[in-house]
Amino acid sequence: MRITVVGAGYVGLSTGLVLASLGNEVYFVDVEEKKIEDLKKGLVPFKEPYVKGLLEKTTRSGNIEFSNLYSTTIPNSDLVFICVGTPPKVNGEVDLRQVKKAIKSIGECLSRRFTVIVVKSTVPVGMAKQLKNTLAKAGHKNFAIVSNPEFLREGSAIKDSLTPDRIVIGSDQSKAVKVLIKLYRPIIKQKFENIIVERLPREIPLVLTSNESAELIKYASNAFLTTKISFINEIANIAENVGADITDVAKALGLDPRIGDKFLDAGIGWGGSCFPKDVRALHQIAGNSGYMPVLLKSVIEVNNEQRYRFLQKISKALGENIEGKTIAVLGVAFKSGTDDVRESPAIEIINKLLELGAKIKAYDPLALENAKKVLKNNSDITFCTSPYDAAKGVSALIITTEWPEFKNLNFRRIKSLLKSPILIDGRNLIDKDMVKKLGFKYWAVGRK
Ligand code: UDX
Repeated sequence: MRITVVGAGYVGLSTGLVLASLGNEVYFVDVEEKKIEDLKKGLVPFKEPYVKGLLEKTTRSGNIEFSNLYSTTIPNSDLVFICVGTPPKVNGEVDLRQVKKAIKSIGECLSRRFTVIVVKSTVPVGMAKQLKNTLAKAGHKNFAIVSNPEFLREGSAIKDSLTPDRIVIGSDQSKAVKVLIKLYRPIIKQKFENIIVERLPREIPLVLTSNESAELIKYASNAFLTTKISFINEIANIAENVGADITDVAKALGLDPRIGDKFLDAGIGWGGSCFPKDVRALHQIAGNSGYMPVLLKSVIEVNNEQRYRFLQKISKALGENIEGKTIAVLGVAFKSGTDDVRESPAIEIINKLLELGAKIKAYDPLALENAKKVLKNNSDITFCTSPYDAAKGVSALIITTEWPEFKNLNFRRIKSLLKSPILIDGRNLIDKDMVKKLGFKYWAVGRK
């Protein structure tokens, strides 16, 4: 099929490349000219496994093209995917300017051919209907708007696109639903060859529903996952007070299949480009609909509080005196496996420590370049080339991102480099018995 992807960002590029590798013709359009020019040269604007390889492969096979011209590709497309950003406004509402701009540009180019417009961007419930009205008012008839939320995670975007847990298709037009099912058939049936990930031995479940339900499914999924994390963080805080160990508690909880063992890692809370904005947006959506979401409000509060509790822990470990001390921070990305620092708890903690007069030596395997951009020019922060470099001469070492490689550091060497053997583990990553045996003073979240 012939597809236009509007927005060559994280979701757009990953989705489009996967669809191109399944044999479709994919045209990417983006308002950022530089992004288009870079992509034409094979440069990917973010770090994500397999994306560069797929870009090269699909460029070689002639299945993709990058352009700034909607008018050359949209009139000939069977499907147009809207994959533009929906960033948060300061009040928590969703900034829909990019979606509106995209639909305006699409509307200006639609031809008489039946076109399925697929909304992948996370948009407030009711948006698909609004977009439909906008196009209908402009005189268009032969189109459909399908809500098809994206659940991919950073760090496993391609794998998640090829082997999703489910595909949600929201539409009231059966003709459009059929087009989408045809498009996703190789993924639903797990029939693709020579693409990086292993096929699953089963079909991918399809959920066919209304636009509104599809839109709500996306928000509800993210809200549930954040609820799980805030829940385990709250239990961790209780565990700390009553002398229990949250890792044992979480393990036992996770063995109940009704609860499940995923997303039960206590720590300094959730961040990233989706969770914070989506949970705040759902809170707003609920409020606007006339329902005050008590639980969601608490999920957000527990998450905010978690970072401050961690700061208090650092302060306590340093004898309530942070000013003038140098602290090594391992991890600036919002999670492991990505260079993304958007709404990273680590960045917030660094900023707070700087405010309190500390000096920071930061290390991250991937995200330092992005951290430099958001932390601006500050002479009190040094970006280090290794965890050992960061540990040299500091008063405490803190772990803020769950990078697996931090588990296997040579802690004997780390201890010999530190000014004082203080280790504060915001992700419960380190083998506490091992570091305690080595003579570290060790703090974690929800365990002694
Ligand atoms: C998330 C959703 O998982 C994905 O389905 C959606 O499409 C976009 O948002 P992502 O932002 O890539 O994906 O991050 P994810 O892997 O879900 O982690 C989010 C945050 O939660 C990270 O800050 C992570 O460190 C934190 N987390 C996760 C925990 O603190 N504990 C856990 O047990 C799991």
